[in-house]
Amino acid sequence: MVSRLKSLFEDPTKRPRLIVWIGVAVIGLAVLSAVGVIGTSTNWFCTEPCHVVHYDNTLAFNAGTHVKLSCVTCHEPVNGSPLTFILMKLEVAPDLIPTIAGTFHLPMNEGSYLALEMEDEYCTQCHNLDNRVVNPSKGIIIDHEAHTKKDVTCTSCHNRVAHPEESVTYVLEGDEKHENWLTMDACFRCHGLEADAAAPGACEACHPASFDLVPASHDAENWYNDFGDSGGHAAAYTEEASRVVQAVAWADGLEEVEHRAAPEMPYEQEINTCYTCHSKAFCTDCHGVEMPHPAEFVTDHGEAGLSNPDACATCHARSEAEAASGEFCNACHHPQGAPDRPWLTQHDDIVRTTGASPCFDCHNPTYCSACHVGGPEAAERYLKENAGD
Ligand code: HEC
Ligand code: HEC
Ligand code: HEC
Ligand code: HEC
Ligand code: HEC
Ligand code: HEC
Ligand code: HEC
Ligand code: HEC
Ligand code: HEC
Ligand code: HEC
Ligand code: HEC
Repeated sequence: MVSRLKSLFEDPTKRPRLIVWIGVAVIGLAVLSAVGVIGTSTNWFCTEPCHVVHYDNTLAFNAGTHVKLSCVTCHEPVNGSPLTFILMKLEVAPDLIPTIAGTFHLPMNEGSYLALEMEDEYCTQCHNLDNRVVNPSKGIIIDHEAHTKKDVTCTSCHNRVAHPEESVTYVLEGDEKHENWLTMDACFRCHGLEADAAAPGACEACHPASFDLVPASHDAENWYNDFGDSGGHAAAYTEEASRVVQAVAWADGLEEVEHRAAPEMPYEQEINTCYTCHSKAFCTDCHGVEMPHPAEFVTDHGEAGLSNPDACATCHARSEAEAASGEFCNACHHPQGAPDRPWLTQHDDIVRTTGASPCFDCHNPTYCSACHVGGPEAAERYLKENAGD
């Protein structure tokens, strides 16, 4: 065998045969590589052999509008040379080991880092938004050009365009659905109502005048009531705030990824929904004080209350009259009193029915005598002298 090969190289009369064999070998290799590259670029290859890994992603892909496309349109370099493809296949080759061993990490593409990194050229291969009329859903305004100008990529918003997940039930254990960035919360990763936001948060930027701006949650009977139960919005906020705390912890645990357009961009889940429609001032202007009350407030609320009674009346007054008179302290301190009359003019009625002893839970007996020594006249005089205190 060795000697026959040797003669093939050394014997000049056998040169033509040598050339033929080399030719066959080169063509064979070329065909093999082509079959390899093309074969590993088919949707079949991306899904079936690697079925175990990409099963759920393909289920989602099949539910989308781009289902007729080849996976490589978006997942291999645009207009790449054959060499780029080969290098890319080699780069992902080590993934075979965890695929076969079943030790791969799920969920895939956690945090949607692929969408954060994907360049526009994948989409603009086909889409030219200068020529296409965009028909957004009813009530939504979108300005594509404004975003392109600021280097906001297509998949910063259309992250699930090729793999929509709403109607898909995932089957692989450990797999999870991704965030969808076509939601209002996701717009508010950049847009915002506070002065330091990168883009405008005013409703009219994205909604026409006819759009109903109040969400269904606010129809709840106890959402907000003047002088009644307003626990609905308070409970919704408390729940939302604790959900956000968990989301921030989740995002902190993700591997660092390059956020194009906005380096500090948070994830959709990290956005507190209340603050997409409401500035923080909207809440504090109504509350007037820090909510929930700080712990020390139990003992030092008297001063804060007397200096800004309106702020407390929003929540503590039992009637409009009580709010207007600034007598909201009575709601807690003299709950027996009628809420539509000043306490001073009815405390005597209460003393007549209950006696004075319950009063001394809080008042020192000398408190009464400041007004009562000398009878009602002294009391009137005291009031005049202390008017404005
Ligand atoms: C029209 C473009 C497009 C096509 C075609 C496409 N994908 Fe994707 N794919 C994307 C985008 C964009 C993402 C990033 C999604 C994200 O980060 O939220 C993605 C993400 C993925 C992921 C990561 C997991 C996930 O669901 O986010 C896998 C795996 C995947 N694609 C596989 C495939 C397979 C297999 C095919 C063919 C059957 C395919 N893709 C076809 C655009 C495409
Ligand atoms: C190979 C061509 C091709 C590529 C690449 C492609 N699309 Fe499409 N896309 C289409 C066609 C065709 C339609 C259907 C016709 C239409 O709506 O314009 C479509 C529809 C859409 C729609 C409307 C329907 C829907 O599902 O919401 C959006 C949005 C969209 N594409 C965004 C993208 C984005 C973002 C990318 C890049 C990740 C992308 N496309 C890549 C061809 C492509
Ligand atoms: C800032 C977010 C954002 C960016 C960036 C963005 N889009 Fe859109 N796009 C939207 C929204 C929102 C809609 C309306 C979707 C709806 O109402 O269902 C839309 C609609 C579309 C539609 C029309 C869908 C239809 O049914 O008429 C196409 C096509 C589209 N976008 C493609 C693209 C492409 C291509 C890019 C990148 C060049 C891009 N978009 C960048 C948010 C964005
Ligand atoms: C990655 C950041 C980012 C995301 C996400 C984003 N935007 Fe924007 N948006 C911008 C920037 C930046 C501008 C330009 C602001 C400027 O020109 O001052 C803008 C401007 C706009 C404008 C024009 C507003 C005006 O009055 O000039 C509209 C409309 C808009 N965005 C809608 C949306 C919608 C709808 C979404 C969610 C689907 C969205 N944006 C998500 C960054 C973003
Ligand atoms: C940057 C763009 C943008 C701005 C600014 C914006 N929205 Fe939206 N809004 C959206 C998008 C996109 C949707 C549809 C997707 C969804 O339902 O999350 C939406 C949906 C809604 C809905 C219907 C969904 C629901 O939760 O009931 C309401 C109500 C709404 N917006 C109110 C407002 C109000 C109030 C403001 C102003 C304080 C505002 N929006 C500002 C983009 C925006
Ligand atoms: C129109 C006035 C008003 C506005 C605006 C308002 N609140 Fe309130 N808030 C109240 C009242 C009244 C209560 C007392 C609720 C009760 O117990 O009945 C309250 C209570 C709360 C509490 C409960 C405090 C506790 O410890 O029990 C929280 C939290 C809260 N609000 C959050 C918010 C947030 C966040 C916003 C803005 C998105 C907001 N509120 C806007 C009037 C308002
Ligand atoms: C999709 C937009 C949107 C979201 C999200 C939203 N709100 Fe509102 N909210 C509104 C609008 C619009 C109004 C009416 C504002 C006005 O009249 O000025 C309102 C009014 C209110 C009021 C005053 C009620 C009244 O009758 O005047 C309170 C309190 C409130 N919201 C609390 C919250 C809290 C707490 C959250 C979060 C759990 C929240 N909102 C989330 C849009 C929203
Ligand atoms: C936004 C509504 C709101 C405003 C404004 C408000 N409070 Fe309260 N306050 C509450 C709620 C709700 C509770 C009950 C808290 C609880 O049970 O956890 C409360 C409890 C209290 C308590 C009882 C504390 C305890 O531990 O029993 C005092 C005292 C008090 N408030 C005083 C004030 C004073 C004084 C002001 C004005 C400076 C004020 N509050 C403004 C909602 C409010
Ligand atoms: C929400 C109910 C509530 C309201 C409204 C309220 N208080 Fe009180 N206040 C209490 C309670 C409960 C205590 C008893 C606290 C303790 O000692 O644990 C208290 C105690 C006090 C004390 C004694 C503090 C101490 O050192 O023990 C003073 C003084 C006082 N309140 C003044 C006021 C004044 C003035 C107002 C109106 C501006 C007011 N409070 C409104 C519930 C209220
Ligand atoms: C829970 C504690 C508490 C109890 C019980 C209580 N008070 Fe008071 N009372 C207060 C506080 C606090 C103030 C406000 C102190 C201030 O203005 O400096 C006040 C104020 C008053 C005032 C002055 C009102 C004004 O407009 O200046 C009168 C009068 C009064 N109380 C009478 C009574 C009588 C009578 C009783 C028994 C029926 C009673 N109080 C029971 C806590 C209490
Ligand atoms: C701020 C001054 C003031 C304080 C403090 C005060 N009172 Fe009075 N009191 C009055 C005035 C003024 C009247 C007359 C009210 C009226 O006629 O409406 C009155 C009337 C009364 C009457 C009816 C007396 C009669 O002759 O008809 C009784 C009983 C009474 N107070 C008990 C108390 C007790 C008990 C306390 C202490 C817990 C107290 N008062 C603290 C101002 C005060």
